Amino acid sequence: MKGVLLLLSAILLTAHPARGDEHTDARIGKHLYISYCELCHGEDGKTKGALAEKLGLKPADLTSKTLQSKKAAALADIISGYGRKTGSNMPQWGTVMPKQNLLHLAAYILSFSSNNALPKGDARRGMALFKSACVACHGQAGDGKGVLAGLIGINMVDFTSLQPASADGKSLKKTILDGKGAFMPSWKGTLNEKEVDDLTAFIMSLTKR
Ligand code: HEC
Ligand code: HEC
Repeated sequence: MKGVLLLLSAILLTAHPARGDEHTDARIGKHLYISYCELCHGEDGKTKGALAEKLGLKPADLTSKTLQSKKAAALADIISGYGRKTGSNMPQWGTVMPKQNLLHLAAYILSFSSNNALPKGDARRGMALFKSACVACHGQAGDGKGVLAGLIGINMVDFTSLQPASADGKSLKKTILDGKGAFMPSWKGTLNEKEVDDLTAFIMSLTKR
């Protein structure tokens, strides 16, 4: 077991440095998960991965209600492992992984609960589209403080603090396609399906959970 952990630490130390993202990004979390967690926790977070199988470990079920009800920051602390009882077979990720990466991981693990399924779009392309088509109202930061919204005094949503019910990918996508209320335009026909997926992914990456 010790050998395995040493090996893991060696991989980690040579891995890419954390990107300077200020937002948590479940897509980055997914890459990290595949590299460092899947071998014990399985692809879906609840079946044993090959390494856990081989070593006879019993990894926690990452889809459990207890873990899924946590906020990303709290889950990141749990993953970091500070305060975990000694003798645990779960590595102390906090000693080798930057805080931001723990947050990306937490965001990805929280997407295991069904209504937060990871959007299939590309958040980076979505960001570019958002900057050109949406900032007038939704603001550069997605907080609803756009110039146009301010000028005409529209009551805006703040994407960085969406309620869980609206932070769901399906409902965000529907609003982008169909529009909402008097001021949110319908983008059906203007943006194609892929572009709407990209925007949805970007907006979900803004949501602090
Ligand atoms: C070497 C196998 C192994 C790897 C790799 C691994 N885990 Fe674990 N994990 C475990 C085991 C075993 C447990 C059960 C806790 C125990 O035995 O003390 C666990 C428990 C957990 C828990 C529940 C909290 C706790 O402390 O029990 C979380 C959350 C978790 N792992 C996340 C992760 C994440 C995220 C990664 C990747 C960065 C990861 N694990 C990589 C073996 C592993
Ligand atoms: C002319 C102003 C305006 C523009 C431009 C605009 N929006 Fe909106 N948007 C709004 C308003 C106002 C709301 C709130 C509607 C309501 O709740 O009645 C909204 C709501 C939304 C919601 C729903 C949030 C929730 O809580 O359900 C999404 C998603 C959204 N906009 C995405 C976009 C995207 C993506 C673009 C660019 C392609 C965009 N909007 C461009 C004004 C705008």
